[in-house]
Amino acid sequence: MAINGNIKFPGDKSISHRALMFAALANGQSRISNLSTGADVQSTRQCLEACGIQIENDGDDVIVTGGQFSDPTKPLNCGNSGTTTRLLMGLLAGQGINATLIGDESLSSRPMNRILDPLSQMGLQSESNDGKLPVIIHKSELNGIHYKSPVASAQVKSAILLAGLGANDQTTVTEPILSRDHTEKMLTGIGANLNSNGLSSIISPLSFSLSNFNMIVPGDPSTAAFFAAAAAVVPDSDITMNGILRNPTRIGFYITLQKMGAEMDCLATWEEAGETIGKLNVIHQPLNGITITQDHVPSLIDELPIIAVLATQAQGKTEVRDAEELRLKESDRIHAICKNLNSMGADIKELDDGFIINGPTQLKGATIETFHDHRIAMAFTVAELIADGDVVLDHPECASISFPEFYDELYRLKQ
Ligand code: S3P
Repeated sequence: MAINGNIKFPGDKSISHRALMFAALANGQSRISNLSTGADVQSTRQCLEACGIQIENDGDDVIVTGGQFSDPTKPLNCGNSGTTTRLLMGLLAGQGINATLIGDESLSSRPMNRILDPLSQMGLQSESNDGKLPVIIHKSELNGIHYKSPVASAQVKSAILLAGLGANDQTTVTEPILSRDHTEKMLTGIGANLNSNGLSSIISPLSFSLSNFNMIVPGDPSTAAFFAAAAAVVPDSDITMNGILRNPTRIGFYITLQKMGAEMDCLATWEEAGETIGKLNVIHQPLNGITITQDHVPSLIDELPIIAVLATQAQGKTEVRDAEELRLKESDRIHAICKNLNSMGADIKELDDGFIINGPTQLKGATIETFHDHRIAMAFTVAELIADGDVVLDHPECASISFPEFYDELYRLKQ
């Protein structure tokens, strides 16, 4: 059963969260088109609304009236979304808001100290459950800091920059490897005094209003990766994906796919809202194993589950190292990948910071434990396309965290 046809994707999840938050900070009305349809971005919307920001639907667009934030009267429920929680902590701290942030079981087990530590250095008073949710932030005077982040994390970088908007002095963040740079690009685009220079960004406190904006969110490359991978591994497949974000900090998966030998062509590229967008074609082709280490990890961190599935079909050894951050995502993704690929018969070895896969192997049917993790559910749905036997996911519905239309779209392209 091949994967054939054309597909467009809802807006990138990372940019969608930021579009809502930055429109909430801006002066006047902003219009956002092609917002992500996933539950995570809905969590951001609801949290902003609970802080007094008016957000309305206009057809498929969303209109945000930016302005004054107010203290929410109830805890802000961030659901499953790490980006919502971590960026909001910085943003609300910078706006002098008192708030409690809560989340689901997965989010409540994820580390928040990576945000609370630098924010406390800035002067934020907060309480947490031993560095985890629930987190309570108290309105505090913030001072600027020079923060050297131990991790390459766009969530950490963004939270500090957003808090810096409300500090009484300049704030600098430096990261070890460049993580996605949407916050820097978008805040600069709406008038923030922010300068990025390689791995460091410096932001000045806001002394004027940010400008409202209209934007069409580019298609999500992390969601598109599942379809590109499906076309790459299923014989006779040929798909064209239009309107996909081609930001250099986000295309690690596509570079890797090409290095593995896939036939992938960028048919067109153009610029929109300060980002490069592309039209990609992927055709089935035999794949080879690959080595992924430190410098590559941030640009494909969310795509490692699907890269693992591809590696089981590739000739030779695939080794992923320096990816210990994967253990701190919506699930422990190193464990989830290894456990499930093992039960499908793959030759995989779990490492503290990654895994080694020797391929190719004929995968067999199995029951998959998704750990309620959307990217595990989607990766193993692609694995099912090449498995001999039935693959049953325990919680397929969790794909709706980022892409509620996933199963319908895959079904449409299956022939
Ligand atoms: C995101 C950053 C990444 C990524 C997450 C979204 C963002 O996390 O894994 O899915 O939108 O900033 P880290 O910044 O923690 O690596």
